[in-house]
Amino acid sequence: MLKKLDNLTEIELLKWVRSSVKTKSNILSRGSQGHVYLYKGKGQRLILKAPVGWGLGGLIRRVMLRNEYRAYSRLSEVRGVPRCYGILDGRYLVLECINGVPLRRSRITDRGMFFEKLLNLIKGLHKAGVAHGDLKKKDNLLVVKGRAPCMIDFGVAIVSKPGFAPLNRYLYNLARKFDFNAWVKLKYNRKFENIVDEDRQYYNRTVVEKVSRWIKRAYRKLKKDLRGEPKKYRHL
Ligand SMILES: Nc1ncnc2c1ncn2[C@@H]1O[C@H](COP(=O)(O)OP(=O)(O)O)[C@@H](O)[C@H]1O
Ligand SMILES: [Mg+2]
Repeated sequence: MLKKLDNLTEIELLKWVRSSVKTKSNILSRGSQGHVYLYKGKGQRLILKAPVGWGLGGLIRRVMLRNEYRAYSRLSEVRGVPRCYGILDGRYLVLECINGVPLRRSRITDRGMFFEKLLNLIKGLHKAGVAHGDLKKKDNLLVVKGRAPCMIDFGVAIVSKPGFAPLNRYLYNLARKFDFNAWVKLKYNRKFENIVDEDRQYYNRTVVEKVSRWIKRAYRKLKKDLRGEPKKYRHL
């Protein structure tokens, strides 16, 4: 059951998305979690995320979509995330379409202001009990009107559970650290030597990040070695 949509019924939207899936049309993005469809009509612009695939891959994507829905449900009061209308037909996540540009391609008018807003948004998220966990990906941050951040893609977010839940607590705290580390990485464009004292408190690389960085580097090196690239070009 969806939250009320102006001038549009669930049945109409379901018909539209089923036909879009069938004809492979209205696709805005083909991502890791599935396909993202853009609905435009009846004065509305909506995003519908649909998991794709069968078997284990399809199952994981469906679980991620449910997880994303749980995260959005906790964030209905937080400004800077799209409004979530619910899950349609048990498989399509329906979201407000944000009129923004992915951070990777955006022009920010005042970087200082933008990153201050982003830091406050991260803190607001954590206050609501959600850690995003995947902010290093520049596609998961949209820039609205060149100045306001908007976070999307809560597929791997950790939603804190009340009561005794040690594993959840551990993962939640880890994902919170990922969020702050990502903020520093994006703000300083990986130039960590430029971090000012005030921001140092937000940069605490976790063992998980160190190990994953080591693996990525080793993998890149191995690929280059296998390709037989001469050493002098390796930095390119
Ligand atoms: N609510 C939204 N408003 C506008 N664009 C969106 C929205 N949700 C997703 N998108 C677009 O679709 C892309 C993929 O969405 P995302 O949620 O990150 O899916 P994936 O899990 O496949 O990475 C985003 O990078 C963005 O360009
Ligand atoms: Mg994404």
